[in-house]
Amino acid sequence: MKKNLILLLLLGLFFKAGAQNVSLKKGWKLAIGDSPEWSSPGFDDKGWQNADVSKSWELQGHPSYDGFGWYRLHVVIPSSIKEKAYLKDSLLISLGSIDDNDEVYLNGTLIGKYGGRGGDIKSSHYGPRSYKIAANNPAILWDRENVLAIRVYDTGGDGGMYGSNFNVHMADIMEGVHFDTNSDFSYGDKNSLGKSIKIVTANRYAYKGTLSFTVTDPETGAVILSKKTDTAHFTAGTPFSWWFTFSAAKKRSYLITYTFKDRRSGVELSETETTPYILTPALAKTPKINGADVFGVRPGHPVLYLIPATGLKPLTYRAKGLPSGLKLNPATGIITGVVDKEGSYPLVLTVTNRKGSATKKFTLAIGDNIGLTPALGWNSWNAWGLSVNDEKVRTSAREMAQRLSAHGWSYINIDDGWEAEKRTDDGKIVANSKFPDMKGLTDFVHGLGLRMGIYSSPGPRTCGGYLGSWQHEDDDALTYGEWGIDYLKYDWCSYGEIAPHHPNLDEMKKPYQVMRSSLNKASRDILFSFCQYGMGDVWNWGAEVGGNSWRTTGDITDTWNSMSGIGFSQDKAAPLAGPGHFNDPDMLVVGKVGWGPSLHNTRLTFDEQYTHISLWSLLSSPLLIGCDMGHLDRFTLSLLTNDEVIAIDQDALGKSARQYIKKDGYQVWVKELKDGGKAIGLFNTADKYQTISLSKTNAALKGYTKFRDVWRQQNIAAVGGSIAPHGVLLIRVEK
Ligand code: GLA
Repeated sequence: MKKNLILLLLLGLFFKAGAQNVSLKKGWKLAIGDSPEWSSPGFDDKGWQNADVSKSWELQGHPSYDGFGWYRLHVVIPSSIKEKAYLKDSLLISLGSIDDNDEVYLNGTLIGKYGGRGGDIKSSHYGPRSYKIAANNPAILWDRENVLAIRVYDTGGDGGMYGSNFNVHMADIMEGVHFDTNSDFSYGDKNSLGKSIKIVTANRYAYKGTLSFTVTDPETGAVILSKKTDTAHFTAGTPFSWWFTFSAAKKRSYLITYTFKDRRSGVELSETETTPYILTPALAKTPKINGADVFGVRPGHPVLYLIPATGLKPLTYRAKGLPSGLKLNPATGIITGVVDKEGSYPLVLTVTNRKGSATKKFTLAIGDNIGLTPALGWNSWNAWGLSVNDEKVRTSAREMAQRLSAHGWSYINIDDGWEAEKRTDDGKIVANSKFPDMKGLTDFVHGLGLRMGIYSSPGPRTCGGYLGSWQHEDDDALTYGEWGIDYLKYDWCSYGEIAPHHPNLDEMKKPYQVMRSSLNKASRDILFSFCQYGMGDVWNWGAEVGGNSWRTTGDITDTWNSMSGIGFSQDKAAPLAGPGHFNDPDMLVVGKVGWGPSLHNTRLTFDEQYTHISLWSLLSSPLLIGCDMGHLDRFTLSLLTNDEVIAIDQDALGKSARQYIKKDGYQVWVKELKDGGKAIGLFNTADKYQTISLSKTNAALKGYTKFRDVWRQQNIAAVGGSIAPHGVLLIRVEK
């Protein structure tokens, strides 16, 4: 929603300042393949298919297609767009997002390109694209028809050029100016919030003007606070910083709009964000045991299980019924050892501190089925992308141990970017210089009671262009075993070059079968996470091929469109989830994300983040935190430590919620739980407040009498209420 609002405000800006823009949303043609002739303005593209640039090419008749494709558009660029712009020297061409890399030709001239690592167009660099060119560049044909030709290369998963921001406009005075709203909110007494924002530019122009700030109630539209300062001055290297506080009347998100108006040019820039509100109650000092009720390990393989418990420290841990071969460290709560005999071992766990004690029944299932509840952990990709390194992984592990493992979080997974360029002479995979000691790092993670995950591709190269496991599957599984790896994400990527162009089901399964049998030779449990973006409806065969989870979609990003588009389309795969094998709608986009060295606050609103965690928990998805763990703000921490919400994800029945109601502005999803209860998500998918309820006579509630608001951890009288735009009410019902 924030994005829509910004868009609206930006449109407002165009009208106010008169800096017109030419839409590039309609009229595109698409061809799959590659030819140098396709950049030429004279090429006849009439026979090409009409392209819809709001969606990937997979959704336009090219399922599972990876490789080159071209988009062409004939468009008149009127010189009138220069007239009202304050600055008239450059033109900006915005092309939505490109998945993954591109070259842009205007009337046959290459005016820009975006490649992956080392400029190689074949390595992944998915993301938004805008190209700036001088207004006097002879490639632009003012007031005449221009031909824009975009050569796109997709490395894997969804591909093409798609998104919402497609236009040409003058790069006016506010181009290159932005509000930096990335600092964390601070929380005072009585719902009061504070924050510092900055207006930043790299332009040398001296901006002087007013900054106004309004807080709006999104339900009524009423402006509840408005402030203005005349002293906003900034230029390159000297941002304007401003600290504000305000008291929120209710526990909900408000809209804050910042508007800067430059006095000399009269041009304005606006941005809107929402305010956080925390629902998760503060932790009690008395002990409480959290996490799943069951944990599976193969016989003869090492057990590593940290009993997740909260309460005033120090805590003392005990376990009754531990099978021989296992021991529990009473001070850390870490269970280690090996059990040779298959069986279901019922344990009674007890945790004590000076405020009291708590017990919990727990089952250790020694057998072939592992990953009995969805993995809870962290993965480096959505935060650091290819810039992940040893230090960042250690920071995440330390933070997880300090703040999250007490709630059941346990995996520290390194995604792409750890691999060397070359194997050793005897074919062994080695890490690159960012990971000087992989075994040492794994030992460190294990020492904290956590588990370690790694990433590879069945192809010769990973999506990021690093070494994959092609023809070295046994070597790699052996190395992972030696390092002590507990989880492997196996990403199709360049396997597209090995498999035939339109692989059939057997061909899609093959690389996963090969690695499965290699992993089976390791003498430890390694959860196997398939990443091939849902090709061939993987949910129908992922379990049979030995996957513990499988991605059902292309890559997520931190927008409402992406998150809700993925989350609300999971019903088809839902019946196939079960203990040991789960659908994976991709990793979480809460907290500070960035897919590279510089991070930003997720662009999801706070209500959208509640929706994200609620929906993923209802779907029994692996929950893999994708943010910088070194800077977990208070809100994000509250999202990730609500034990009643996590319990829905970790429910031992392992079923996924089903879509129960789907209407234009709302949806209801229902998940069956092990204790005979249900978890129900009422989602407001509209842009305005709505009251959404299920009446007590609704079939889903028949026989249920106890209702609980899970985020607030409070019993409630009825299932429903007023729900914020893109927000949720997550409810647990019992008989
Ligand atoms: C693909 C996957 C992502 C990530 C990157 C790494 O895009 O879908 O989750 O692993 O590759 O390059």
